[in-house]
Amino acid sequence: MKLKQYGLTIWFTGLSGAGKTSINRVVERELRSLGYQVEVLDGDIVRQNLCNGLGFSKADRDENIRRIGFVAHLLTRNNVIVLVSAISPYREVREEVRQRIGTFVEVYVNSPLEICEERDVKGLYKKARNGDIKYFTGIDDPYEPPLNPEVECRTDKETVEQSASKVLAKLADFGYLYSLGGQ
Ligand code: ADX
Repeated sequence: MKLKQYGLTIWFTGLSGAGKTSINRVVERELRSLGYQVEVLDGDIVRQNLCNGLGFSKADRDENIRRIGFVAHLLTRNNVIVLVSAISPYREVREEVRQRIGTFVEVYVNSPLEICEERDVKGLYKKARNGDIKYFTGIDDPYEPPLNPEVECRTDKETVEQSASKVLAKLADFGYLYSLGGQ
């Protein structure tokens, strides 16, 4: 008999360049290799379709998170493991989606701004510093860190693999992986 998989949402929040997508990819790969059904919602991608046209005002960011949260909720209740990567800078709307989804693991991908800026993978920090991009998170727009995240990854001190292992260990601790992986 095939054991049932339970849905949950793993929500990666943190500054641009903190490493959300990189950790997400490793967690995705590991979960898939264990046989779980996984879906990924990444801010950069979702903003090209589901959230196309939304900008970076507080209202638009909150709308972005609500839409991602809505889809994550639908998938979670259909027993999918959903991996979300979005800056999601505002605590209140993160709490709102947490309440809506229910089975929710918040991962704070924490790296000091200086390090994210030094990495500047997409060249956007430079543009923000030059004033070519306004309201850039961490530069001239706020980021409210989670107060009680289920997992905190210090990506300035850990490798991507170590961070991903922390996430997977927490899922196992909570018993979320038992139905397939722990029997
Ligand atoms: S969120 O704030 O609404 O959660 P989201 O994660 O979807 O943001 O998108 C962030 C991505 O958009 C960044 O990784 C970056 O590539 C791009 N971006 C463009 N402008 C901004 C900005 N003003 N602030 C933050 N990210 C921006």
